[in-house]
Amino acid sequence: MSTHAAVILAAGKGTRMNSQTPKVLHRVCGTEMLCLVEIAARQAGLGPIAVVVPSDSQQIESALGSDVSYVTQEEQLGTGHAVLQAEEVLKSADNVLVMYGDVPLVAAQTLKQMMKLHDDTEACITLLTSKLVNPDGLGRIIRDSSGSVTAIIEEQDADAETKAIREINSGFYCFRAAWLWKHLNGLPPSRKGEVFLTDLVALAAKQGMQVESVLSEDAYEVMGVNNRVQMAEAENVMRQRIRENWMMEGVSMPDPSSVYIDHTVKLGQDTVILPNTHLTGRTLVGIACRIGPNSMISDSIIGDRCGVLSSVIRDSHLGDRVDVGPFSHIRGGSHLESGVHVGTSAEIKNSHLGPDTKMGHFSYMGDAHLGSNVNIGAGAITCNFDGENKNETHIGDDVFVSCDTMLIAPVTMGDRSSTGAGAVVTKDVAADSLVVGVPAKEFPKKPKLDLDKEPSS
Ligand code: UD1
Ligand code: CA
Repeated sequence: MSTHAAVILAAGKGTRMNSQTPKVLHRVCGTEMLCLVEIAARQAGLGPIAVVVPSDSQQIESALGSDVSYVTQEEQLGTGHAVLQAEEVLKSADNVLVMYGDVPLVAAQTLKQMMKLHDDTEACITLLTSKLVNPDGLGRIIRDSSGSVTAIIEEQDADAETKAIREINSGFYCFRAAWLWKHLNGLPPSRKGEVFLTDLVALAAKQGMQVESVLSEDAYEVMGVNNRVQMAEAENVMRQRIRENWMMEGVSMPDPSSVYIDHTVKLGQDTVILPNTHLTGRTLVGIACRIGPNSMISDSIIGDRCGVLSSVIRDSHLGDRVDVGPFSHIRGGSHLESGVHVGTSAEIKNSHLGPDTKMGHFSYMGDAHLGSNVNIGAGAITCNFDGENKNETHIGDDVFVSCDTMLIAPVTMGDRSSTGAGAVVTKDVAADSLVVGVPAKEFPKKPKLDLDKEPSS
């Protein structure tokens, strides 16, 4: 196969979005539209990839990273002018596949189909068209009596008869590179001063060059997003696709329409996602978990066989068999090891809870490091903030923190130590000891009864 480079256009103003953010960086199911287009290009095996950006492109470059080449279009003089900017970067490729950064649902498979037809027929241009979308505002495909494509006419230049045509231009085209670079330069601008890439089609047809087309069979993959109404529509379609994909992979959703899963999320087999649940960002959920109802998990790793009920988990890591909720909030890089139980209305921030630690009711652990098998009683909290600094609390293994204990950080509780209910712990607690009161003091231990000893008579 000949080489196919890609150029993705992303320099347009996107005025119709009415936004401070560049249009192509608006997200569909958590991923920027431009990144979705780039992912499709990569999956189709296109390369190298050039992205045409406006002069203030910092935001775009940080979203997309350094695996592509950026070329600047100083002035937005139209799609033809935009492609021309990539000539230097893509010079060595045999073919160039032009893509628009605002068509987020395009499938890699379709791009491959276009490249194959383009190679097989040795066409000059191969277009992707569709008859399944509302043609309003889009370029119409003009064909002659034999069915060959002769031109693309933009809506603004279309008469009533042309507007009645249902076949539209998707904005994806394969060009033979030598022909593209030769003719793009001299292309005359439209009445509004923009150079339309679409005008190349009429030029090729006039020269008797072959123009091929692939008709998209998917109603949405060619959908361009110019405003927020269209963006919501695209999001709806993608969301449904993501849900269906996971259901086919063995994830249950009794009410899929109320489940929101980002493009970047991964789910394990036999996991159940209950209604009104949002899984976003780089979230991984293991197998046989029960998530929701009413839960939000973002950028977190959830192990196998976990339960999350009506709770929020952000930027955190849960081991296997952890259960959380209802109404709890885990955040700030917390790590809950296997078998941890977090019950009702608890908050855990930037803390580590060792295996099998339990925290049943109304508690707060902030900047704390807890060992294994610790019990945090109802209402017990770390007082981690002294008004200026965040201070750490260290709790050893098998510690019993009674109800309503205040741990004034920085403070350490040794292994197997405990507090009495309502204790305010201001000083470190030695291993195996019990502290009580306000401020907490060590409680003398009762002498242990030695049951093996003969009773003294
Ligand atoms: C374009 C097509 C139209 C097609 C439709 C499909 C042209 C002239 N028209 O119309 O036939 O049906 O897409 O969605 O191509 N851009 C630049 N620099 C510019 C202008 C645009 O980089 O100077 C980029 C935009 O960021 C966008 C893409 O090119 O990603 C398309 O531009 P847009 O203004 O959205 O074109 P449409 O009016 O949608
Ligand atoms: Ca568009």
